[in-house]
Amino acid sequence: MTDEPTPARAEMLRREILDKIAEYYRIAHLPADFVPGETFVNYGGRVYDERELQSAVEAVLDFWLTDGPRTEAFSARLGQYVGLKCILTVNSGSSANLVALTTLCSRQLERPLLPGDEVITPAATFPTTVAPIVQNWLIPVFVDCRVGTYNLDVNLLEAALSSQTRAVFVPHILGNPVEIDVVMDFAQAHDLYVIEDTCDALGSRYDGTYCGAFGHLSTFSFYPAHHITTGEGGAVGTNDTRLYHIAHSIRDWGRDCWCDHKSPRDGECRQRFDWEIPGLGEPYDHRYYFTEIGYNLKMTDLQAAIGLPQLDKLPDFVAARKHNFAVLYEGLSRYTDYLVLPVWSPKADPAWFAFTIAVREDAPFTRRDLNDYLRMRKIETRYLFAGNILRQPAYRHIPHRIATPLPETERVLKSAFFIGVYPGMDDARLAYILQVFEDFFTGQGLL
Ligand SMILES: Cc1ncc(COP(=O)(O)O)c(C=O)c1O
Repeated sequence: MTDEPTPARAEMLRREILDKIAEYYRIAHLPADFVPGETFVNYGGRVYDERELQSAVEAVLDFWLTDGPRTEAFSARLGQYVGLKCILTVNSGSSANLVALTTLCSRQLERPLLPGDEVITPAATFPTTVAPIVQNWLIPVFVDCRVGTYNLDVNLLEAALSSQTRAVFVPHILGNPVEIDVVMDFAQAHDLYVIEDTCDALGSRYDGTYCGAFGHLSTFSFYPAHHITTGEGGAVGTNDTRLYHIAHSIRDWGRDCWCDHKSPRDGECRQRFDWEIPGLGEPYDHRYYFTEIGYNLKMTDLQAAIGLPQLDKLPDFVAARKHNFAVLYEGLSRYTDYLVLPVWSPKADPAWFAFTIAVREDAPFTRRDLNDYLRMRKIETRYLFAGNILRQPAYRHIPHRIATPLPETERVLKSAFFIGVYPGMDDARLAYILQVFEDFFTGQGLL
């Protein structure tokens, strides 16, 4: 083989680069041995091998850069996995929430959500589930959750309803499926939209169906702590092609054109320059024809390149999360006089995001005592997101309605925290966590 700049030579170089990356990965990314008490046990993180590195570098070699063939392949495969007809990739789970809710406010819909309309959502939540409600001039109506499931208490939905209610924005908190059948029945009975925030729950199932496949729209996050990662990244899912096209437009500057990277220059419609702006009197370029007030929230081809091998690993990731959860659940069951362990519906098959614990009010120690003890021993803990979103400085003054009192949400704020179950945890780390809990309870004189 000569050094001629031929396609065969390019292919050979590409192969060489990819082989070198595999070798590099094996040397440079080799995980260090776990040393109990010294190695940090995080609650989540990237789990990858040479295939993610190779795929990312291949995307660099192709140098597509923007939304392109890999985002398209990633969308198709994610849709197949969850059981959704349409997936729109975006640059984060928060962007997915913003696009999904803004879609329901589109003037292209027969009955869009209008300023002042109400959206039911739990008060124990992640901030960017509530933010798009506020950003679209809608009124969040907060309902309580249940300690144990940490999900919206579906028994309170009827009490939250008013003549202004138009939608339910419901997260599957920390991978635990909300009783979505009850939510969907409620929504159908009152002609409401449902958005499932599935950012924590890719791979979780309810009654045999994947979370994210129930609502009118659903959202996903691929931040490294989540079930798969693209670095930053997210997606909006739907089975409704009309909602998909509106979401697409909102993601892409508000423009109406739906052409993808494979479309011919004169547009998929072959009428790119024939679009009528009402009243203009002459046709206009569809690529600059704006039917929504939009953003630019696209995922790049480079991000999707990392996501594709992650999707291959997703079934194993889900299995590992379930295994790690089961080990912790069994080991921590002896402390239920002092700790509330996770609770889930008999219809739920959760792909857990984390292992959530609430310290009982009558326990002789505080959440802070236990968390400090764990953190001192290099076990990462997190409190449950915003706790009660209405206590957060940014959200205290938002227009809102509290449907019913929020005593359980207040308990979450004051007593809940979580530790990891992510696939990067092995049996040695799990055993270490259980040992540290045992040491804590022994030290407290409770064993
Ligand atoms: C329930 C929920 N919704 C939305 C988000 C936001 O996702 P992202 O970090 O990708 O913006 C998160 C983040 O962890 C989340 O837990």
